[in-house]
Amino acid sequence: MTPHQASLHAREIAGLAPIIPVLVVDDVAHARPLAEALVAGGLPALEVTLRTPAALDVIREMAKVPGGVVGAGTLLTPADVLAAKEAGAKFGVSPGATDKLLEACEAADLPLLPGVATASEAMRLLERGYDMLKFFPAEASGGAAALKAIGAPIPQVAFCPTGGVSIKNAPDYLGLPNVLCAGGSWVAPKEAVLAGDWSRIEQLAREAAALPR
Ligand code: 3PG
Repeated sequence: MTPHQASLHAREIAGLAPIIPVLVVDDVAHARPLAEALVAGGLPALEVTLRTPAALDVIREMAKVPGGVVGAGTLLTPADVLAAKEAGAKFGVSPGATDKLLEACEAADLPLLPGVATASEAMRLLERGYDMLKFFPAEASGGAAALKAIGAPIPQVAFCPTGGVSIKNAPDYLGLPNVLCAGGSWVAPKEAVLAGDWSRIEQLAREAAALPR
């Protein structure tokens, strides 16, 4: 798969719903019910961050949930890419981009949402064929106003802002012409996961899925 094709796939994944839940899951037993609640609420694309020892097993379990499209977040190294792909991840997300990481994703045919926070980073990735990027850390990098300003001269690049996005500020991002979706952890609050409160998570997903874009 060429970078351009991978980018097309990334756009399809980003187009599935207004919000991609960003998930930090400690217990593999939570994987199935959590994914089922989010998918039932209307959020099929799920990002499982590789930040817990259970993350790869969580991806394996979530990948079995009908209707879900499970990806791996926090990809930092080529080894992360191989492990994510082997676990069944359908896409990757990274906080930034290095040549090694991009090469590994291209070799593994793994669509990637690479993180950028500046125009130069976006231009470098566009040169390489990537036109669907993550804007990270979104709020700390200036929020929707910054993304609007970066996007004005580079309208061919679409973004998924992530980092500090909430149900309150998500509309500011989703209203921009260069935003396809946003990423956020608020749809799966830690206490609700620990309590097994899947109906609350489904309700949060439902609200997020109804956000206009
Ligand atoms: C992350 O890296 O954890 C994501 O950017 C999610 O950020 P959030 O917790 O602010 O939604």
